[in-house]
Amino acid sequence: MIALGIDIGGSGIKGAPVDIRSGALLVERFRIPTPQPATPGAVSEAVAQIVQHFKWTDPIGCTFPAIIKDGIAHSAANVDKSWIGANGQVLFERKTNCPCQLINDADAAGIAEMQFGAGRGRKGVVIMLTFGTGIGSALFLDGQLIPNTELGHLQIRGKDAEKRASDRVRQEKDLSWEEWAERVDEFLAQVEFLFSPDLFIFGGGVSKKHERFLHLLNTRAPIVPAQLMNDAGIVGAALAARSLL
Ligand code: BGC
Repeated sequence: MIALGIDIGGSGIKGAPVDIRSGALLVERFRIPTPQPATPGAVSEAVAQIVQHFKWTDPIGCTFPAIIKDGIAHSAANVDKSWIGANGQVLFERKTNCPCQLINDADAAGIAEMQFGAGRGRKGVVIMLTFGTGIGSALFLDGQLIPNTELGHLQIRGKDAEKRASDRVRQEKDLSWEEWAERVDEFLAQVEFLFSPDLFIFGGGVSKKHERFLHLLNTRAPIVPAQLMNDAGIVGAALAARSLL
């Protein structure tokens, strides 16, 4: 059971064929820079390039950093606003001639972690959060995804949480790990108050450096780093295409 997983991010679009039973990438990933502006048409072209690179004709799964319902994007926080209302799934299918499943990027990373990483076998309420340009979230109950939670847009001190505590903000404001952890903690407290999770999974590129900051966070629930790192999006995208295989 193999699907092509494609992870669409703000700076790069990456793909690889994935064995969805093991979560293994079958060959090395192929990456192209995200076109600017990243309009639906331009992104579809890029997705088609990845499909052509692998001479792929079977189902594909694609992540996208927005609310995704029935293939349609309903938000565009850190992407071109022309995405709102666009049916990415249909656009990609037309461009590639492959059946396609579109899924929110954090939801994809979450299903990959639940299946093959830090959330394996975990019951109860699990929340995966991804810290990057924005803050993404994926909520699970007994392993089942409740999609499109968008917790990065919770209001903290009158601002979207991701405008205070994303990894981009840490870098742009040159925050120390302690300063950043304080902001992240404030966000986590809000999330914990609303959902009382049994486990938090901390994801996004910055989770590679978890030794620097995870111990500074004060959640009641245990908090563990994501395990799949760079591959979570690609693997999760492929898992999302499972129903098409
Ligand atoms: C978007 C989410 C996305 C997250 C991480 C947020 O700005 O609204 O849909 O999952 O960024 O990319």
